[in-house]
Amino acid sequence: MSITRRDTVILGLAGGALLASAAEANAAKPVTGGNVTPTPEQQKLIDAAVEVRQRAYAPYSHFLVGAALETEDGTVFKGCNVENLSYGATICAERNAVFQAVAAGHRKFKAIAVVGDLPAPITPCGMCRQVLGEFGGQTEVICTNLKKDVMVSTVGALLPAAFDFDPSKY
Ligand code: THU
Repeated sequence: MSITRRDTVILGLAGGALLASAAEANAAKPVTGGNVTPTPEQQKLIDAAVEVRQRAYAPYSHFLVGAALETEDGTVFKGCNVENLSYGATICAERNAVFQAVAAGHRKFKAIAVVGDLPAPITPCGMCRQVLGEFGGQTEVICTNLKKDVMVSTVGALLPAAFDFDPSKY
């Protein structure tokens, strides 16, 4: 793992402690919800995410993800992860769903459901949180897995202290 100058500042190097793994970083995640019983509306989005997950293109990670995004007017856009041999060109399920909704003219989102086959509900990656945050922190994030464990949060709660600035000032 290469440590940048910024990492060094953030970590403070108190006692030389470094973040050794993503698991350690995840341990610092705020607790934002437990195992909840989804409402019928949430279940509808989860079902859509489970359905589109089957169309994920993930020949490299073999990890299939589905996402279903509900817009303010109740339209649902689905996205799956689409990987690429040039790994960095991969798009996550959540961003795929957001971009489809935006391309169809929507910018206000009620909720997004995400599903992956993990022992606990999958939570969106940092880049997807940032992209969802572009359109508002209130969007509900329904995280689930194939065992039907459900955690409900919001984009704002999942991305505290998000990057923000006023572009008109620069
Ligand atoms: N992935 C998603 O689609 N959403 C997430 O929130 C996390 C990761 C995808 C990207 C890649 O295709 C695979 O899962 C393994 O990282």
